[in-house]
Amino acid sequence: MLTWLYNKGRISSRRSENSKMASYTLIGIFLLCCTVLVTAVSRDNFKSCDQSSFCRRCRKVEPGKTPYELLSSTVSYNQTTLSADLFNKDTGIVYILKLTALRDNTFRLHINEKAPLHARYEVELALQAEPQVSKIDSIEKSEESITVKSGPNKAVLSVKPFKVDLYSQDELVISANARGLMRFEHIRTKPEPKQEPEQDGAEKVEEPKPEVESEHPGDGADSDPGAWEENFKSHHDSKPLGPEAIALDFSFPGAENVYGIPEHADSLALKSTKSKDPYRLYNLDVFEYELNEGMSLYGAVPVLYAHGKEKTSGIFWHNAAETWVDILSTADNNVVESIVNFVSGSKKPQVAAHFMSESGVIDVFFLLGPKPLDAFRQYTLLTGTAPLPQTFALGYHQSRWNYNDQDDVQQIADSFDRYDMPMDVMWLDIEYTDGKKYFTWDARKFPNPVEMIHNLTSKGRKLVVIIDPHIKRDDGYNVHTDATNMGLYVKNKDGKDYEGWCWPGSSSYLDLFDPKVREYYMTRYDFNNFQGTTKDVYIWNDMNEPSVFNGPEITMPKDVIHYGGWEHRDVHNAYGLMQTVATYEALMRRSERSLRPFILTRSHFAGSQRYAAVWTGDNMAEWDHLKASFPMCLSLAISGISFCGADVGGFFKNPDAELFVRWNQAGAWLPFFRQHSHIETKRREPWTFNDEVTQIVREALRLRYSYLPLWYTLFREHEVNGTPVLRPIWAHYPTEVEAFGIDEELLVGDSILVRPVFEPGVTDVTVYLPGEGKVSWYDIDTMQQHGQQSTLTVPVTLHKIPVYQRSGSIVPRKMRIRRSTVAMKNDPYTLVVIADNNGKATGTLYIDDEVSFEYRNGKYLYLRLSLVGNNLSSKILDKVASYETKSCLERVDIVNPPKGIKSAHLTSKNLGKVALETKYNPHNNVLVVRKPSVNMGEEWTIELLN
Ligand code: NOJ
Repeated sequence: MLTWLYNKGRISSRRSENSKMASYTLIGIFLLCCTVLVTAVSRDNFKSCDQSSFCRRCRKVEPGKTPYELLSSTVSYNQTTLSADLFNKDTGIVYILKLTALRDNTFRLHINEKAPLHARYEVELALQAEPQVSKIDSIEKSEESITVKSGPNKAVLSVKPFKVDLYSQDELVISANARGLMRFEHIRTKPEPKQEPEQDGAEKVEEPKPEVESEHPGDGADSDPGAWEENFKSHHDSKPLGPEAIALDFSFPGAENVYGIPEHADSLALKSTKSKDPYRLYNLDVFEYELNEGMSLYGAVPVLYAHGKEKTSGIFWHNAAETWVDILSTADNNVVESIVNFVSGSKKPQVAAHFMSESGVIDVFFLLGPKPLDAFRQYTLLTGTAPLPQTFALGYHQSRWNYNDQDDVQQIADSFDRYDMPMDVMWLDIEYTDGKKYFTWDARKFPNPVEMIHNLTSKGRKLVVIIDPHIKRDDGYNVHTDATNMGLYVKNKDGKDYEGWCWPGSSSYLDLFDPKVREYYMTRYDFNNFQGTTKDVYIWNDMNEPSVFNGPEITMPKDVIHYGGWEHRDVHNAYGLMQTVATYEALMRRSERSLRPFILTRSHFAGSQRYAAVWTGDNMAEWDHLKASFPMCLSLAISGISFCGADVGGFFKNPDAELFVRWNQAGAWLPFFRQHSHIETKRREPWTFNDEVTQIVREALRLRYSYLPLWYTLFREHEVNGTPVLRPIWAHYPTEVEAFGIDEELLVGDSILVRPVFEPGVTDVTVYLPGEGKVSWYDIDTMQQHGQQSTLTVPVTLHKIPVYQRSGSIVPRKMRIRRSTVAMKNDPYTLVVIADNNGKATGTLYIDDEVSFEYRNGKYLYLRLSLVGNNLSSKILDKVASYETKSCLERVDIVNPPKGIKSAHLTSKNLGKVALETKYNPHNNVLVVRKPSVNMGEEWTIELLN
């Protein structure tokens, strides 16, 4: 028996319990259906701002008329926090405002109702811990304002009208409510319905008019027909608490652009929304998403950065409800005029944003920079960084929906060896399960999963399997019966278990906001519950927006109830985060806390980086989608989520050979490097096109593996310092206005610049090389020098995309490429040194056991590599740490070396003084130092001799 459901552009299969239909037949039918049914994004499945009553109300607020005033007589403070009452003169409602000075140039502004009729939701688990406070140095009060000084920063709260100005080193960088768009809808009782006039022509009774105007005319929400209930398509939202939206505007004087608030398939620099819908943050499963759009996607990270030539700042809007963000740019003349008046009286460029959320409280963090990397770090101090992954996770991943059975998995893995291509991880999508019951196996296709896994691990490889959050409502499925009996599901408002439709058919959803439910969920991953898996199996959490095929906007209704009585409306954007919180802890337990977990999640929120990597979901095998993968991952990277990638080759449709090649070449430079495709696509393992493609993809994969020491070092530095692994050009060249809008390039760390080919049939591409001529960029293949001009046209062949290393940098590599990262662990290093005009270069290298948490007990090496004149050296940066590595230094390439070098010698404690062979190549100006053979755990110096 087979039931097909095509719902909102989604296709789902449901097989009856007894169905043993061969999977090939299933896939065949699926293919047929998909070909007919696949269409582009169905926009009308998703709301516009106009179709969302709270967005409409917030967007309608007129600038310059804020009703909020600070009641100065109520101001009190302690060493770190100022508190005061805030009054809305239109509604008579009083709020409590708290402004707290935090560590590292950060302030937190928190506003809630003073006496709410119901508690309002405060987000959980996005922050890594309670933020560390900082001392307030002084508070000055005048009739008009209160000035709070902390370190080099100050916050000035204007009393009437209310606004907050944030200064970094005496320069105004952020102003909240400068445009007066703040709105805080208090929780209220539902107004009595107006008496309808009699139908039968009886006389209409006029309501008596009040003799005097009410002291508080209200906020207008009561007259909005969508305030107490709302329909969207066939879905009804009962809104038992009525209107409860919050909104606040932020102006950024001096900023040219704003960035962040992923996830959107759009440019990195956010566009003005003056004549279109605001950017939306509401985690959704958008089928065949469109590009250049502010529509919601799978994730929502409400952090936004404002960047100008002089300063970078940011705000983190700590709210998990549906949120819309309007952006106004300097180009929006009239509006900017008014911002200028409100904010500074000067005609600087400035950008403004207006955040509007459906519920919750105003809880906003001001990140005062002043440089881009400062603002990024300040955000990760709040929400955390990604823990260092095992090296395998940085290798190449091979996935498709689906590898059919265990022989298929074996054959694919073997083919990588046959074609001499490195590969670390095989992936299994939903068809490995028994009828989409997660934590089970289809015993016919996978009769012996442990054997299959051992075959992989014997070659140093791993397996990742998918686990979605929906649970099949099947009385023979123990997870369902447990969840039913123990009351673990999300509830309808009538208290019954909520039922929706997903891959297995009728499904319910674990209420992962409940710590008790998370605890139960973790036990599902125990080896005795998830049989057929081993420690070498890692997890893919998909469909966790959550995706509900028959729900409003393909997700859960907003009025279903979670732990603590909170409505889904309050917590929606954090549902996926909760799943990864549980999965992460479960994986920790599977290895007795000894192995670093690897999880891939589709839905994400602020803080997701602490648990999982993210990919950009169901993209398409189209050139523009390849191009979009760069700004999408960059936006995530600056928003804390460095571990990002896109389905290589495109998920939907079939790439042609050229697109496939270009996608592999570009994908090799994103942190998460996985090929994945839809069940209806043609097989596209790297050898399935032609010999030339096989050869070029092999080169791309091998190049990726040769740079693993750099990736690994950058991930470690991200964990410690919050520096994104990928960075936009302006992160390091903040004054170069030409770079503010670049989407085609990115920096890997601060030393590698990548500009893939994003168009078919081109023979050259335009590259922007930052540094204003003071920095040179060297082609990593030829070591040819560039950078005297900032914009150049670079010829490309199918074999090549432009990638450069910066002058003054030292990049560690491993040049002996093997079948997997594990096999390369003890291999020797090569250093690529590019001397700048002063003969200097620096770099870092991080080494540890690549799998365990021992590095947290000081078992690692962190090395500073430097070239000064004729001396190249390695110094241990963190002396309290140590690690016994088997790897040694195999070779050093010095580009632009000191003149006339004939030989070299190395000095180290264990080796003493050793003569080394050198060879200078005048064609590319590279000096090669051969076989220093010193162990990387030693400090050493190589002296270059004339
Ligand atoms: C949706 C995911 O985005 C996709 O990658 C996956 O293949 C399908 N679900 C099936 O699990």
